[in-house]
Amino acid sequence: MAIDEELGFVVTPWEVRGEVDYGKLIKKFGVEPLTRELLQRIERHAGYLHLYLRRGLFFAHRDLGLWLDSYEKGVKVVLYTGRGPSGRTHIGHLVPWIFTKYLQDAFKATLYFQVTDDEKFLVKQELTMDEVERYSYDNVLDVIAVGFDPERTKMFIDTKYAKTLYRIAVEVAKHVTFSTAKATFGFTESSNIGIIFFPAIQAAPCFLAQYLEGKDAHVLIPCAIDQDPYWRIARDVAPKLGFRKPAGIFSKFVPGLIQGGKMSASIPESSIFMTDTPEEAAKKVWNAFTGGQPTVKEQREKGGNPDICTVYYYFYFLFEEDDKVVEELYQRCRTGDVICGECKRKLAERVAKFLEEHQRRRERAKDLIDKFLVED
Ligand code: TRP
Repeated sequence: MAIDEELGFVVTPWEVRGEVDYGKLIKKFGVEPLTRELLQRIERHAGYLHLYLRRGLFFAHRDLGLWLDSYEKGVKVVLYTGRGPSGRTHIGHLVPWIFTKYLQDAFKATLYFQVTDDEKFLVKQELTMDEVERYSYDNVLDVIAVGFDPERTKMFIDTKYAKTLYRIAVEVAKHVTFSTAKATFGFTESSNIGIIFFPAIQAAPCFLAQYLEGKDAHVLIPCAIDQDPYWRIARDVAPKLGFRKPAGIFSKFVPGLIQGGKMSASIPESSIFMTDTPEEAAKKVWNAFTGGQPTVKEQREKGGNPDICTVYYYFYFLFEEDDKVVEELYQRCRTGDVICGECKRKLAERVAKFLEEHQRRRERAKDLIDKFLVED
């Protein structure tokens, strides 16, 4: 798809390209920016404000206020998120999941987690069903390793939970015209017919709690903003099926380690994979794009530019909780007091520790798969 002329970038569920201006994206998608008042409400229930909210990594929503109203009034609230298993998991994928765990703990909510093997098979020309199946089970381990509550989490792989999902998906699909799907997702005459139906499958879990239990529930979807087109469809259809519209809370994309663009599994140098060794990860951090000067001498004289530095982003958005420490890092970079090697070394240490802990939990997850996965 061409770069959107007015915007200068593209964001669809299958492609993110160009320099994303999140202010413009909020307007284009018709989502709302997160407000201080909403953050305070979340903080009140959770006991603290998650780093991703404090630093604005999660930045927009739909109906979050209504969802919080439901919780406060005692309406059952649930969470829904997912993963398209097209490759190995990287740190960028973990952001919505870590955040979802925070919400699960805060609101004691059941989480429905969808693994869209069908979607990835249909979208990625080169992937076979066998490969997608291998990635599905591999990725499930990374999801479990995030630490979701097994009593409150139901994960499912679409082709292994097809009976239940299909029943809901046909109800959804009947209310979505081809012209709406085309306008929402950019389908063309050469799109395969599988992917044209698929939005109904991704919408189905929005109504799964209500369907399974035959009771009212209000769903909140924490995810990256590129998934929003699916929720526009789901929200349109919801009242026609007698359900509440799903609410959403949306994140920005985690930038890759190379210049420009999000972390992307198809550009391995840009991504720290959850199964990378600390050495592999350190090497990628070492080659990361920074805001530094070409030489140490120039860095000392002119200072660096943290505003364009991926290493600084990683501290800011992911790895450094302490506001004073990030502020100090910012100033020390600007004044040339710190050089890139020092920052990279520190980041590589943080990343190594994060990977080691994740990999330990990932090993344990192998014994927990049956507790999390449902099939029909
Ligand atoms: N389409 C998503 C992807 O490609 C997977 C997904 C399914 C999802 N359901 C979701 C993501 C709900 C977020 C929320 O990764």
